[in-house]
Amino acid sequence: MSDNSNPSQNSRRSFLKTTTAATAAVAAGSTLNVGRFAHGAGTRETVRIGLIGCGGRGSGAIQNALNASPQNEVVGLCDMFEDRLKFCRKTLETKRKDQTKVTDETCFLGFDGYKQLLETDIDVVLLCTPPYFRPMQLRAAIEAGKHVFCEKPVGVDAPGVRSVLETSEMARKKGLSIVSGLCWRYDNLVKDMVGKIRDGYIGDITTIQENYLTGLLWQRNRKDDWTEMHYQLRNWLYFHWLSGDHIVEQHIHSLDKALWLMGDTPPVAAYGCGGRQVRTDARFGNIYDHFAVCYEWANGVKTFAYCRQQGGPIFRETDDYVYGSNGRARILGNEITLNDKVVYKYEGPRPNMYDVEHVALFDGIRNNKPINNGTYMSYSTLLAILGREVCYTGKRITWEEMMNSQSKLGPEKLEFGDIPVPEVPMPGQTKFK
Ligand SMILES: NC(=O)c1ccc[n+]([C@@H]2O[C@H](COP(=O)([O-])OP(=O)(O)OC[C@H]3O[C@@H](n4cnc5c(N)ncnc54)[C@H](O)[C@@H]3O)[C@@H](O)[C@H]2O)c1
Repeated sequence: MSDNSNPSQNSRRSFLKTTTAATAAVAAGSTLNVGRFAHGAGTRETVRIGLIGCGGRGSGAIQNALNASPQNEVVGLCDMFEDRLKFCRKTLETKRKDQTKVTDETCFLGFDGYKQLLETDIDVVLLCTPPYFRPMQLRAAIEAGKHVFCEKPVGVDAPGVRSVLETSEMARKKGLSIVSGLCWRYDNLVKDMVGKIRDGYIGDITTIQENYLTGLLWQRNRKDDWTEMHYQLRNWLYFHWLSGDHIVEQHIHSLDKALWLMGDTPPVAAYGCGGRQVRTDARFGNIYDHFAVCYEWANGVKTFAYCRQQGGPIFRETDDYVYGSNGRARILGNEITLNDKVVYKYEGPRPNMYDVEHVALFDGIRNNKPINNGTYMSYSTLLAILGREVCYTGKRITWEEMMNSQSKLGPEKLEFGDIPVPEVPMPGQTKFK
């Protein structure tokens, strides 16, 4: 395990030729035409991957990346905490022995570990830390010339989102890929339903309703030797500076579908209400446990977005209801209804969307056709931040005001120690900045 930089080996040239055997493996469970890889048949070069954030999603994402080709290798890991990194490394060395080439010298810890990983000879980096760190880590990755898989959300405040928009432009100019972890965009059912609705199957969209009504998530108890920064990092979900609050961290998946249905055009304004009713204990930091937001588009369409994280025997549902001038649709519920009769259900193949997004990433890299999901991942993040801010402040806020907000969340300095515990926002008192 190292806290020191690895010498850069920039002399190693990317890219990338591969064998037909690799294409067959990649094609498994994918609808992409990876047969195009065949140009390099007979030669072989690996793609070297680094992972930043070795938690639940990072450990899953690296497996998805390895599934995408037998010639993909994980060569470096980075996490804030040694226990998380070690667990992830051990799992990889057990389950994916042939594709795991991690050494003590390519494992990095702490706030600056990502910079050290990015100095190594990796081709692709997976960004799977809490959302607060995304803008700085994405910028560093693109500056270092790496292709990126970028988990959602891509920030927690407007300055972060503006930075990601700039970085995405840098990536475009450098020919580097940024594939977003907004995974429903890579799901066959959702792609089919959104495509049909956008093609006018139910007429013109008039209203969208997004539900993410779910239960409680994990929480880690405080330990005696943890500073407040340590506690907040271990419990990042519950601090809005780290997660953005659950409307940003989780409900973004639904809001992204609404944005997609609207042709990736942002709304004009939003208002809403929310609060903290059940999860009131101090161990739950300062986030809310429910939000209800009305988003208004320039053409009169409204999206009503509901999300809740509460326990007990309550109604739970994650679905997308779309109402049109001729009929209605449920996206995850998989039905299109005209004249009160279900007239369509998607019945095609549905490979694992988490694998599919990685197939797209590595296919794009190997074929020199970079993918850039930068704009929609930024807009969906800002859409969710707008929803949070209207509920925190009680105000109606425009997209333009939100995009220009100067409010920067998080402590002055990133270091272990006693940082403030942020206050629970109060509508009517919390200011929009
Ligand atoms: N697309 C999806 O369906 C999906 C599903 C789950 C999570 N996610 C997203 O993935 C991200 C991670 O979520 P998770 O569930 O894996 O959380 P997690 O807590 O399991 O993992 C996060 C890891 O990042 C580490 N970390 C924290 N700060 C770091 C830093 N500055 N540098 C390096 N490592 C750092 C933590 O120690 C932890 O191991 C979040 O943005 C979350 O929204 C996406």
